[in-house]
Amino acid sequence: MLRFSEIVKSSVGKKILMALTGLAMVIFLIEHLSGNLLLYSKNPDPYNKYADFLLSFGDILIVAEMGLIAILLSHVFSGISVATGKQKARPQSYSKSVSAGGPSRKSFASTTMIFTGLLTFAFIVVHLKTFKYGPHYTSTIDGTHVRDLHRLVMEVFQSPGYVAWYVITLLLLGFHLRHGFWSAFQSLGINHPRYTPIIYTTGIILAVVMAAGFIGIPLWIYFTGA
Ligand code: HEM
Repeated sequence: MLRFSEIVKSSVGKKILMALTGLAMVIFLIEHLSGNLLLYSKNPDPYNKYADFLLSFGDILIVAEMGLIAILLSHVFSGISVATGKQKARPQSYSKSVSAGGPSRKSFASTTMIFTGLLTFAFIVVHLKTFKYGPHYTSTIDGTHVRDLHRLVMEVFQSPGYVAWYVITLLLLGFHLRHGFWSAFQSLGINHPRYTPIIYTTGIILAVVMAAGFIGIPLWIYFTGA
């Protein structure tokens, strides 16, 4: 019987790991965007209450965060490994890159996955430093002291440099999701003439909703001075 470490070392195993961790992060992104939509409220309390509610999970939250880091790192390392494996197999790229149609689905999104993936990883590192480990303002809601993350987000997105960085990287995250979502199902062997077009279209909708939803937040804060 093959051991887990042997499966993960094989190229098929790496693709399956990349697919499962990618889909797990999509679930996180949907939850994260839903929570961040509270920033559109003029009242800071709903957002700060939501962040405080997450903190109230205590040790469960810490375990979930460690799981998320493990998932993120597995995704990044399996992605780098698959990309470098492809590079070794074909050191010289095709002189002309065209889609073979059907299952090939070659596009800007599919040919830049390693670049958009690494940029998203850099985005997450800077993002955590800015927000999770950023200044710890506090506010009081119903007599309870909570972290004032709303104030921090509002302050950060007054800077045009930060807003530009968010808009560019989140746009590229959209491209990553557009190809990644469909590709994950292919790697898991879920390929059917009836369902594959539905999965492909779902990937496009997901990418547009995520990119537009996240990009809207810094733009709205910057331009309305919220
Ligand atoms: C405008 C868009 C976004 C805003 C305003 C935002 C805001 C925040 C804030 C305030 C936190 C800190 C939460 C806390 O410490 O309790 C956070 C955490 C985090 N964000 Fe975002 N975020 C955005 C987009 C993204 C995107 C696109 C990703 C991933 C690609 C992402 C990944 C994360 C991760 C992994 C954490 C840490 C979660 C945890 O440890 O609980 N965020 N975000």
